[in-house]
Amino acid sequence: KVTKGNAHPHGGEAVAIVHNGIIENFSELKETLRDAGVSFQTETDSEVIAKLIEHHLTRLGSPEEAFRVTLGQLEGAFAIGMVAADDPHRIYCARQGSPLAIGHGESEMFIGSDAMALAPFTRRVTYLEEGDWAVLSLTSARIFDANNTPVERPETLSDASAALVGKGRHRHFMAKEIEEQSEVIAHTLSHFLDPASESVVMPEGQIAFDKISMLTISACGTAYLAGLISKYWFETWAKLPVEIDIASELRYRDVPYADGNAALFVSQSGETADTLAALRDAKAKGQTVGVVVNVLESTMAREADVVFPIKAGPEIGVASTKAFTCQLAALACLALTAGRQRGHLTAEDERRIVHSLFALPRLISEVLADTAPSIEAISHQLAEASDVLYLGRGVSFPLALEGALKLKEISYIHAEGYAAGELKHGPIALVDEHVPVIVIAPPDRHYEKIISNMHEVIARGGRCILLSSKEGLERAKADDPLLGAIALPEVDSLLAPLVYAVPIQLIAYHTAVQKGTDVDQPRNLAKSVTVE
Ligand code: M6R
Repeated sequence: KVTKGNAHPHGGEAVAIVHNGIIENFSELKETLRDAGVSFQTETDSEVIAKLIEHHLTRLGSPEEAFRVTLGQLEGAFAIGMVAADDPHRIYCARQGSPLAIGHGESEMFIGSDAMALAPFTRRVTYLEEGDWAVLSLTSARIFDANNTPVERPETLSDASAALVGKGRHRHFMAKEIEEQSEVIAHTLSHFLDPASESVVMPEGQIAFDKISMLTISACGTAYLAGLISKYWFETWAKLPVEIDIASELRYRDVPYADGNAALFVSQSGETADTLAALRDAKAKGQTVGVVVNVLESTMAREADVVFPIKAGPEIGVASTKAFTCQLAALACLALTAGRQRGHLTAEDERRIVHSLFALPRLISEVLADTAPSIEAISHQLAEASDVLYLGRGVSFPLALEGALKLKEISYIHAEGYAAGELKHGPIALVDEHVPVIVIAPPDRHYEKIISNMHEVIARGGRCILLSSKEGLERAKADDPLLGAIALPEVDSLLAPLVYAVPIQLIAYHTAVQKGTDVDQPRNLAKSVTVE
């Protein structure tokens, strides 16, 4: 439970520890310690670590030895920091399964889960490898590997500067990150595209899409939904079959990977435990592994065969916004590369799509400027709802899932996304005047069908909010007034999610602000899910 008593640090008279992760054998360890007369004040697995170190300390006399022996007894995924009362100028730390970085300051040292956490203090960062542990003095770090052998780990200069992780003039990081999208997508695109020839330029060492018969894609949460949108692109532009699953499922499936195929993993942090496990499994089973990732110093970036950076800059808000659209931009470039390599995309098609990609920063700026007032008004009504449905078809279906995910995670309103064609197979039973239905309907080949789904909802008393182009809104001709209509610019139909994502994010943001929730740090959630 979240209680003061269960809060970190844990420990007694002799040591204090902080811990991220799960100690799987904590019940056994607790039992053994209890038998030895040790008492516990909390319900946490973390306290067991502290009490175990103290137990060994009495016997061994050295905090370093007690820490080392304890590590050998812990099972599970963890990152741990420890200080000893008798030697307060030393920090002991260890990583197994959860990320941990050491920050080098001026006569001071830090530990944190990643460079972002360390950014206000230092840019000089050393990443610990799996199984490493270290002893920090005021000026240096002695690092040991899992076999307790002293090792050197390089010191790197991190990109996450303190200025970049400030909120600027914004009330929330999420608002800042939504607004930054026009700028950061431009960074992503300029990494992968050549404006002069309007073509994709992939760096060396890319995946040979023409040599594979199947691409596996996996990720968690919003990153998974970016992957799901890209499936439509790989299929359409490259005629490449895509197998996609959420990482927590994929890692435990007996996937019959064919030798020599490739797998792409998508992650903002590069540390998500399930995605990392699925990546390692695919690599062990002979796949060329690519990672579409924001944090380049992350574990996934270090373990993948090929790294595709999304260049979003630090994302602090727990709700992923700019990382999502930058993931989409990078994935679109990869799908175009695949299309070209496999001979299914003509130079003319490639130029047309690249041209549309380059228009995205401008279109996103327009959306940010033009839609904010109407979205704020709509959010007053949404904040009253207990349930909200999102509908989409084609590439807008994963975006409907993303809209629902964003709304529920920050406003705590129950929301579900559906492929609009599924409406009659169940969800329409939920529709009444109390359930707002958000209809994502760019003017693409699904437009007529989804508008007819919207009319089915209206006919049952449902109140719809329609997202479409100006012309699409006019053509929809709803007899009953809509709860809201959001006019968006014309965009290449397959690329529409990159533009329609922005109002989807703003709807969630303004509704959460209305409800007064903790927008950047919603309850029960962490930015980086480093344990299963
Ligand atoms: O760091 P990752 O991209 O691997 O994180 C994946 C998910 O945990 C993340 O997208 C999560 O769903 C967000 N909170 C959604 O806004």
